[in-house]
Amino acid sequence: MKKFKVTIEKSLILGLTAVHFLSSCGKGIPEESTTTVVSDKVFSVEEVLEMVAIENDVTRTLYTKGIVGAGKKQGLKFDEDWQDDKVEAGPLPALFLRGVSSSIRKSSVPLGLYLGSDFPINASNKFEGKQAELFKEIKKNQKPQFFYDDAQKVHTAMFADLAVAAPCVNCHNDHVSTSKKDWKLGDVMGATTWQYPSDSLSYKEAVGVLNAYRNGTKDIYNAYLAEIAAFKSSPKPSIGKTWPTKGFYLPTAEVFIDSVRKLTSYKSLEVLVKKGAPVTIAN
Ligand code: HEC
Repeated sequence: MKKFKVTIEKSLILGLTAVHFLSSCGKGIPEESTTTVVSDKVFSVEEVLEMVAIENDVTRTLYTKGIVGAGKKQGLKFDEDWQDDKVEAGPLPALFLRGVSSSIRKSSVPLGLYLGSDFPINASNKFEGKQAELFKEIKKNQKPQFFYDDAQKVHTAMFADLAVAAPCVNCHNDHVSTSKKDWKLGDVMGATTWQYPSDSLSYKEAVGVLNAYRNGTKDIYNAYLAEIAAFKSSPKPSIGKTWPTKGFYLPTAEVFIDSVRKLTSYKSLEVLVKKGAPVTIAN
């Protein structure tokens, strides 16, 4: 039986597999050997932004349902002014996302993230220009939109932000500063806008983008746990492996991220499989 020497490299977080069949034919002559030159830049910017948008969808839904929705039932509070010393509360979903965004900005990865809408609570989140135009398309068909922003010199991708849970709709409809009071479950409430300077990325850069997002999640989640640790008058939930659906608990950042990882890996892999991971084969 013929045996092949197979080396499997697993990329850090995507579980990607690149397989190299090493040359083993003793009689091989140079003309017959196959050399596949794989470009370093294997991902288009669209593919990478699509993957990080999946990660964001999962993180956002998990935070909104698993932490904010379930936590409120246990008596936890979430507030716009959660960082105010006098307010003992956690970040609202949009501010959780903004926390991720500002952590990415502080990293060395040139990825931009912004959450906008046509009917925002916060006027500074209102889409303008090209983004406002494309957001109209997103509202119609919920499909992502990609364009090159000439003024800012960045590739831009926009993904629908849906009212995935009751708290999204209730909070926005009832908010004092709301510009729309009839949001319904499933509505396109806004769009996440992602920006990246180059049109293609290497594995290392793609993994860097996903890690920057994940580290951002960890940073803002830990900032929330630090806020709880500093509570003076409110009761503090126990922090560990358990979620607030089970009682007065909160998961640690590791447990939270681990759930994100489990829920995203399959979807991210689908994007990669569609693309076809680079496989070098030589016998
Ligand atoms: C408890 C209240 C609350 C919940 C729950 C909530 N939001 Fe928001 N949301 C806000 C506030 C307040 C802002 C404005 C934050 C700021 O100052 O930028 C906001 C901002 C946004 C924005 C940016 C545009 C705007 O309105 O300023 C979008 C889009 C958005 N939320 C969608 C959602 C979705 C989708 C969900 C559920 C996954 C959700 N929100 C859950 C209160 C909430």
